Amino acid sequence: MVKETYSTYIKNYKNKGTIMVPFKSNLSPLSDDDFYNLKKYCTKVDKEFIKIGDAGEKNHLLVGRFITDIKKPEIVKNKYSKKVISILKKRKITKFIKRILKTKKNLYLRRVQFNEIGQNCFVGYHLDVDSNPEYLAACVIQLGSNFKGGLYRVYQKKTKKYFDYAPSKGSLIVSNCLYPHEVTKVKSGKRGSLVFFVSYKKGLNKRSS
Ligand SMILES: [Fe+2]
Repeated sequence: MVKETYSTYIKNYKNKGTIMVPFKSNLSPLSDDDFYNLKKYCTKVDKEFIKIGDAGEKNHLLVGRFITDIKKPEIVKNKYSKKVISILKKRKITKFIKRILKTKKNLYLRRVQFNEIGQNCFVGYHLDVDSNPEYLAACVIQLGSNFKGGLYRVYQKKTKKYFDYAPSKGSLIVSNCLYPHEVTKVKSGKRGSLVFFVSYKKGLNKRSS
């Protein structure tokens, strides 16, 4: 395997809008303990089914929430939110994301949730800045690898070209929220991931609708 370097990741983030760091690779900011604890909290948290009516197709997502960002960021009252947040705010993780984004500014967590996509389901083409124009990057920690399909597909702004990322256990995706993307159909198994959005702003959500 090619040894990852920061400069390659920074360049790929700039040019393709997305990077994926494998778990236990030399630059992964996620320790074993952090990963297993996040996985445990995501398994235990209460979840709700969200139906997405893309093109009239039946599709659903199982979602467990830790921070919501409807009008402004709010920590969800449950036994796990603060534990999840304290891991995501660890210096090593924040430092890594700042380095990829090439910023020294403070980053705030605005939305944090566990998403589970079941067999034959997917997440349709969308832009994260439609949920909040001040989102900078979506960060996705893959919690299991017991599934097939479910690629993270990122479209390039000026062409129809896209790049696919096949998440593996413990991988971390950092994706620029200005790039349209989707999660392709999960062919078998369940695809569980912890998603968090970072921003320079912590106030009201300036979404128009
Ligand atoms: Fe997204």
